[in-house]
Amino acid sequence: MYQISELQQLLDQGINNYPYPSSPRNLYEPVSYLLGLGGKRLRPALVLLAADLFEGDVEKAIKPAMAIEFFHNFSLMHDDIMDKAPLRRGKPTVHARWNDETAILSGDIMLIEAYKLITHVDAEILPQVIHVFNKVATEVCEGQQMDMNFEKESSVSISDYIEMIKLKTAVLLGGSLQIGAIIAGSTTINQQLINEFGTKLGIAFQLQDDILDVYGDPEKFGKQVGGDIISNKKTFLLIKSLELAKDHLKLELERLLIDQKIAAEEKVSRVTAIYNALNIKEIAHKKMMDYANDALECLDKINVADDRKLILKDFATHLIMRDK
Ligand code: IPE
Ligand code: IPE
Ligand code: MG
Ligand code: MG
Ligand code: MG
Repeated sequence: MYQISELQQLLDQGINNYPYPSSPRNLYEPVSYLLGLGGKRLRPALVLLAADLFEGDVEKAIKPAMAIEFFHNFSLMHDDIMDKAPLRRGKPTVHARWNDETAILSGDIMLIEAYKLITHVDAEILPQVIHVFNKVATEVCEGQQMDMNFEKESSVSISDYIEMIKLKTAVLLGGSLQIGAIIAGSTTINQQLINEFGTKLGIAFQLQDDILDVYGDPEKFGKQVGGDIISNKKTFLLIKSLELAKDHLKLELERLLIDQKIAAEEKVSRVTAIYNALNIKEIAHKKMMDYANDALECLDKINVADDRKLILKDFATHLIMRDK
């Protein structure tokens, strides 16, 4: 089996040496800019980890893994326009450094590159791989639209929220693992179990992202801290706070959500103070751990020797403990 550092090296080689056309410059430069900032590259690592878990040829999984990372970066470039985010991976977002038009088209080209890359699998599994990829891509768009709709809605339930993050974030982790499993020729039942593991892990992953959006260290996090509060994102922290707050706290929170004049910084600090008063960080952390534990139970059920699962277990644990 490969060590995680070896897999990461294979991916970095593929992604960092990707042959971008040189012209038009402002179409391709933002692509190499964003991909060059790295990020955790966890989704392509999941493709390779699953291929290795089921004793497949990891080399054959590299291009499909890169497809997943290109798709993820496409979704980030467009997400940052939608979320009006100024920072990504510690640097200005593409729409902030160039402009919205550039970020739209450079995002589009990454999606097209992703589709070119995903076809690099054996012909007999191509329909299956494309099916999973298409399903995930559709669901990510659905989740992103729900996320935008919820900004304007005042009563979003926890179950609506879980469905939204499952679609916008979690299914891509599940699909990445499933594609690795397909490439390795694993059984349908193992494919389903590894997908379920990834989807549950993905829900935990997005809960941690929501926590970091408020409580992350700006130096490490690489994104604008408080961005979700500024745009009234219906995160677990906000929904749970609206549920738990009583009397003056509830009134204040509701007022902050509709206040059009308040300065962004003040809104962030006052909403965070309400979260603190309600112990929301701990409650969100507990919810995140519940999903992470459910995920690990799915991994346990997979019909593979336990010692082969250790790397994936360790990877999952690091993901939920992350600070960026
Ligand atoms: C950010 O994903 C988008 C979410 C689904 C939370 P990552 O946290 O994996 O971002 P990078 O790729 O490491 O920058
Ligand atoms: C983004 O969720 C999910 C996708 C990009 C599909 P977020 O909006 O929370 O991601 P970040 O925090 O900007 O990375
Ligand atoms: Mg978003
Ligand atoms: Mg965002
Ligand atoms: Mg976020």
